[in-house]
Amino acid sequence: MTVLASSLVVSGPEAADYAANRDAMLEKLAAVEAEHAKAIGGGGEKYVARHRERGKLLARERVELLLDPDTPFLELSPLAAWGSDYAVGAALVTGIGVIEGVECLITANDPTVRGGASNPWTLRKALRANEIAYANRLPVVSLVESGGADLPSQKEIFIPGGALFKDLTRLSAAGIPTVAVVFGNSTAGGAYIPGMSDHVIMVKERAKVFLGGPPLVKMATGEESDDESLGGADMHARTSGLADYFALDEPDAIRLARRVVRRLNWRKVEPTSGSFPPPLYDADELLGVVPGDLRVPFDPRDVIARIVDGSDFDEFKPLYGASLTTGWAALHGYPVGILANAQGVLFSQESQKAAQFIQLANQRDIPLIFLHNTTGYMVGREYEQGGIIKHGAMMINAVSNSTVPHLSVLMGASYGAGHYGMCGRAYDPRFLFSWPSAKSAVMGPQQLAGVLSIVARASAAAKGRPYDEEADAGLRAMVEQQIESESLPMFLSGRLYDDGVIDPRDTRTVLGLCLSAVHNAPVEGARGGFGVFRM
Ligand code: COA
Repeated sequence: MTVLASSLVVSGPEAADYAANRDAMLEKLAAVEAEHAKAIGGGGEKYVARHRERGKLLARERVELLLDPDTPFLELSPLAAWGSDYAVGAALVTGIGVIEGVECLITANDPTVRGGASNPWTLRKALRANEIAYANRLPVVSLVESGGADLPSQKEIFIPGGALFKDLTRLSAAGIPTVAVVFGNSTAGGAYIPGMSDHVIMVKERAKVFLGGPPLVKMATGEESDDESLGGADMHARTSGLADYFALDEPDAIRLARRVVRRLNWRKVEPTSGSFPPPLYDADELLGVVPGDLRVPFDPRDVIARIVDGSDFDEFKPLYGASLTTGWAALHGYPVGILANAQGVLFSQESQKAAQFIQLANQRDIPLIFLHNTTGYMVGREYEQGGIIKHGAMMINAVSNSTVPHLSVLMGASYGAGHYGMCGRAYDPRFLFSWPSAKSAVMGPQQLAGVLSIVARASAAAKGRPYDEEADAGLRAMVEQQIESESLPMFLSGRLYDDGVIDPRDTRTVLGLCLSAVHNAPVEGARGGFGVFRM
């Protein structure tokens, strides 16, 4: 055993930094929690009360009843649409939970938010959920009740939105089961959700599944009709055959959905191994690791020691490229390779070490965890001459073509191409979560504002014009503020650039749930199949 020692001083006269870090983190966490509460509040009191008066369950209540008792639900992208004109949460709940012992990807429309209509962020969130189901081979259960496309924003969703139905049938073609439970409206394009699912359950006198409702039919053909004869559960169960199961009410529909999952004969590729030791250090201390000011470095081993089994970590090449910590551990019994930024900057040595480490993980079929706190690759004459572009490219090549599952956690900074090399969003990590302390952008706000100012000054000089210093100071301050706000985790989560902002104390649990989810698909590393490594 190679048990990590902790450098954190958590009590006594030397613990001032720890206490300050902890206070800063708790403050940020409270702000995130306030936004999560908005997502849980759905469309607000009035619409929630109206929904209940109709005798209906809320989206999250439906999910809770569907899951095995006392099992966790890993909710994804709860802050989708944050900072946009649409409600936080994007009128859709998505996440991973266990039904009859089977890990499933669950989606549930929130009908209290504008009738559950899909806006551009709902669409992105739903497409992301499908991507997760496909990559990790998770059966999909859709709890449907939606007004279809959010009509005023149709231009953003109609054309790309077709992918939702394509995804369902591709999942089915890949042998991944899909189940639709229809609690209410599922009309027009929405009708293809049950239409393309392997198994369909509809709720009596509630489900409405038709391509066109009575007014549209009247306009199109002059025919007089009503909701029930066009698309009620009874009609679909007896006449059209679209419904496989006729549920008497909502709890009955959930019971039937659980029965369907039970009969899927779904076998996980690699079940979780039995028992594993917890870390030796308290997860609560993760609150005090990251300094409020990200320019102050911290030791990522203090994080690793609090998330891996038994705090046991075999470091790879500790003396070489020391600004990136790499090594082997287990998390909830699953073997993992970890890459964690130590001093922020990535140099040539760090990049080469990362490329080698990623190749090793692929040779051994070991999933990788990337813990981000990087300001990017080193710039400057010495480093350019030393080949930093080639070496950074090597690391990015290795990350891009690696086929073992990648999990990313943004703990602190994640700037520039460092975000790419550490498996940022565009590099398809299976899951990516942020801590409330994270910041991500092309570069830091001050640096970006400074670069803009230097460029503007040079441009004025080239034109022989005087430079307005006062306007420059104002512009710099404004740009700094804008970039700072656009670097923050709630903003990035709102745009679906991560799968959620998590409490640092939950990191081990969240990563454990993710590792369990990824093992529903075979974990196979790339043996070769990398691009040309420039040496
Ligand atoms: N696009 C934009 N807004 C929508 C919407 C949609 N597709 N569906 C509902 N809304 C809005 C409503 O205008 C209403 O807004 P308001 O409260 O500010 O007045 C709010 O969402 C709630 O709708 P409401 O009709 O009061 O809720 P309901 O639960 O009684 O009925 C529906 C829900 C979905 C059955 C009903 O709103 C409906 O039929 N919508 C249109 C469905 C449709 O034809 N969609 C196009 C499919 S491609």
